[in-house]
Amino acid sequence: MAETVLITGASGGLGLEFARIFASRGYNLILAARSLDKLQQIAAELSGDGASPGDGSASTDGASPKGGSASGDTVSSGVKSIRVDVIQADLSQERGAEKLYAEVKALGHPVDQFVNNAGAGKAASTVDIDPDELRGLIHLDVTSYAMLCRLIGADMVRQGHGKILNVSSTTAFFPDPYFNIYGPSKAFVMSLTEAMRGELRGTGVSVTALCPGPVRTGWAERAGKAYPAMAADPAKVAMTGFRAMQAGRLYTIPGIGTCVGTHLLSLLPRTLRVMIGAWWQSAMIRKER
Ligand SMILES: NC(=O)c1ccc[n+]([C@@H]2O[C@H](COP(=O)([O-])OP(=O)(O)OC[C@H]3O[C@@H](n4cnc5c(N)ncnc54)[C@H](OP(=O)(O)O)[C@@H]3O)[C@@H](O)[C@H]2O)c1
Repeated sequence: MAETVLITGASGGLGLEFARIFASRGYNLILAARSLDKLQQIAAELSGDGASPGDGSASTDGASPKGGSASGDTVSSGVKSIRVDVIQADLSQERGAEKLYAEVKALGHPVDQFVNNAGAGKAASTVDIDPDELRGLIHLDVTSYAMLCRLIGADMVRQGHGKILNVSSTTAFFPDPYFNIYGPSKAFVMSLTEAMRGELRGTGVSVTALCPGPVRTGWAERAGKAYPAMAADPAKVAMTGFRAMQAGRLYTIPGIGTCVGTHLLSLLPRTLRVMIGAWWQSAMIRKER
């Protein structure tokens, strides 16, 4: 029987690339994000009715629901050999992760692999960002990551197998001034991955962190900064993450230059790293404005 993967943040960017990779290998998909219309278009594309995401023409109408998951904001489509379920979820809400988990459980089939990917940032220093916006980012980038690892990880341990890919960043290795909680959240995600690796030895469940540098997805513009020229291709980054996840590696930094550069920079004294980080990020924010 085909395995099922849950992907958060699957309405675009890296999450969409992950969805394409898993779909092309015959996995059933559960895709979550806030934009239900985009998820439905992607479900239609990946389940084979020929529509492309973003062309505004597709809906799950062309794909007949297969299995019991169509309720409320949840829509199912199943054509050809893979099943694609979509769930509208706002993970910046206080109980967003629990709500998503309940909807995944209601679908009634186990999650074999989980890409913990949905995330966002905002160019604003810690003392300037709107407190409500900060709270939402903490729920999205920290609480939901941890809660989904807790809930889905426990099911994987019970079933005796599973793979989790936590999407972190090179900012896990390097300070990220002017982005308030974002850098700390990615260091948290890396550290959580390491903790879970230690805890889950011998359970059949692997936990991997994907730590990309800049990726050309639109994330940076939404956050309020420019992309450097060397920003990576999202399809390649997702493939690196997929391979590391399947191999059960602890973490991966896509791109040899990014990988070597990140490890070399992380050897510098902390004070120097803060100065370099502040200079780099303020230059990227100025460039976008
Ligand atoms: N792009 C980069 O340069 C880069 C570098 C390192 C790490 N990362 C990390 O990689 C992951 C994916 O980023 P990306 O580049 O693909 O960004 P993206 O293109 O902005 O996509 C982000 C995804 O997360 C979803 N999302 C955002 N807010 C959400 C919320 N409140 N609830 C549920 N879903 C939400 C978005 O969908 P909706 O808007 O439909 O909800 C979208 O599907 C993130 O964790 C990001 O921090 C990105």
